Amino acid sequence: MPLPPNAASTTPDRPWSPTSWRSFRADQQPDYPDPAAAEAVVAAIAKLPPLVTSGEVETLKRQLAEAARGERFLLQGGDCAESFDACDSGHTTALLKILLQMSLVLTHGSRKRIIRVGRFAGQYAKPRSNPMETKDGTTLPSYRGDIVNRVGFTSVDRVPDPMLLLRGYERSALTLNFIRALVDGGFADLHHPDYWDLDFVRHSPLAADYQRIVESIGESLRFMETLAGSEVGQINRVDFYTSHEGLVLLYEQAQTRQVPRRTGWYDLSTHFPWIGVRTATRDSAHVEYFRGIANPIGVKVGPETSSELLAWLIETLDPHQEPGRLALIHRFGAHKIAKCLPPLLQTVKRMGRTVLWSCDPMHGNTETVVPAEGDWAGKQVKTRKFMHILAELEQAFEIHRNEGTTLGGVHLEVTGENVTECTGGARGLSEVDLSKAYVSQVDPRLNYEQALEMAMLIARRAAGVGRR
Ligand code: PEP
Ligand code: CO
Repeated sequence: MPLPPNAASTTPDRPWSPTSWRSFRADQQPDYPDPAAAEAVVAAIAKLPPLVTSGEVETLKRQLAEAARGERFLLQGGDCAESFDACDSGHTTALLKILLQMSLVLTHGSRKRIIRVGRFAGQYAKPRSNPMETKDGTTLPSYRGDIVNRVGFTSVDRVPDPMLLLRGYERSALTLNFIRALVDGGFADLHHPDYWDLDFVRHSPLAADYQRIVESIGESLRFMETLAGSEVGQINRVDFYTSHEGLVLLYEQAQTRQVPRRTGWYDLSTHFPWIGVRTATRDSAHVEYFRGIANPIGVKVGPETSSELLAWLIETLDPHQEPGRLALIHRFGAHKIAKCLPPLLQTVKRMGRTVLWSCDPMHGNTETVVPAEGDWAGKQVKTRKFMHILAELEQAFEIHRNEGTTLGGVHLEVTGENVTECTGGARGLSEVDLSKAYVSQVDPRLNYEQALEMAMLIARRAAGVGRR
């Protein structure tokens, strides 16, 4: 669909509709060869039921407001990009298990309730720094996620196909249905953390620490139930919320609804959409779309985010200073956070705002390495080092403490599977090991051992974070 460049300007009192973004510059959108076919698919999705409800969205917003005040802690994690092929029970249960285990460790360490948000049931679209990709002398459009085009390296695979929007909606519904059924069926019951065991518990150097935490939580639960004389109703039920980058605006638009007895519009494709760093720009179509929806929203901020841009984003996206509305997810890299984060914290303080600050220690720490030996010797491989991820997080806690602000969450790329995509961690994964089980089509994820280890290390830090 041809879009006018920078045709309009976003101001908070300008009229908004689910389609008003179309008069703004929309970056990173699929260039469909047949725009009418894309409109037909959007109309079809618009008729289908929403994936989440406005009641759930509002409950999450209240919880995020508590996290912004230091009373809860947000754990947001999952794949960089979900794939249609991995929409199966094994992948989903492994991811739920690792998120549950991490949240158990974090609750134990921080003494706070954890909000669990998956990067799932819709994380199918990827922004790309380079619109084209070259392999062995052939140049083709980049892969933009399963909801846009196909990963195979042929010119046919790389043509954006609007039917994939519908397939993505369906896969999201299947994933969410399975997650809801597992949770309702007692899979996430805190009385049975043994259900969530991954191999980790048997083989990891940290297994004994983890077992101690599980036993101690079990004892606390039994103690409270003895005191209360019944099951601790609120505590034994665990919820998951969904999130994804709201990148393909036609997809988000299709699920944007008004609901009876509530004012405003909700993006009911997910509970908690976020704007990526490449599209969180002045007068972008993404900011225009997001300013009009009632969901809690995340905005990624990075080294390129100036204080002026941040102030404009806050004024535009949260003009009414609604508690829980805005999460700022910072992602600088271990070498830049000390310089880049303090000015942004100071800007928000000067504005007198309370936002939820969350740290994404993944996206500023991506690097390309060339293993010296092994199957991938001499090849370029995208990876992240465990110690850089941890170093960024540790600095984030420290910087927030020094500035008197609260780090209320973490945003991680993790999988419950035994992949070899990030190096380091307790088992000392090396560059030579990367070829053993590298699955991600886009960014490298922490595997289950690395993820749990990260949770154990964060738990100690999160304990020191209280009310401001
Ligand atoms: C992501 O979260 O996968 C992503 C692309 O992040 P960012 O916009 O921060 O680069
Ligand atoms: Co990513």
